[in-house]
Amino acid sequence: MEEVTVADTSEIPPGERKFFDIKGTEVAVINQDGTYHAVRNSCPHMGAPVAQGPIETSTRDCDGEDCEKTVLSCPFHGWRFDLDSGRAVFSENTRVRKYDVTVVDDEIRVRI
Ligand code: FES
Repeated sequence: MEEVTVADTSEIPPGERKFFDIKGTEVAVINQDGTYHAVRNSCPHMGAPVAQGPIETSTRDCDGEDCEKTVLSCPFHGWRFDLDSGRAVFSENTRVRKYDVTVVDDEIRVRI
C-alpha cells in the first residue's frame, strides 16, 4: 500500500468528483459535503463506470431502521451502494472497492 497525492482540496469542492488513474486503477475521488470518498470506478456487477452514477441521500435502504444513507447508483443497471461503506444496499457480500482518503495540508491522498 502506498499513499498517493491526487489533488488539492480546492480542485474537488463539495458535490464534485474527479477521476484519476492511480497505478493503473481508475479511481473517483468524491467530495460529499466535505467528506472525501475514493471509489474504484468499476462496478462489481459487470465492471461499468459505477462512480459516474448519481449520488443521493436515501432513507429507503435502511432495513427498517431510522437512518439516512448516501447512495451511489451504477449508471448501467442501477445497483446501489452505500457510499460510506461501499456495501451494496441489497447484499452484505457485494461491495464497490473503496480506498482510504486522508487530507494533509490541503492535499488529498489516496491509500492504494
Ligand atoms: S454494471 Fe453496475 S449494475 Fe450492472
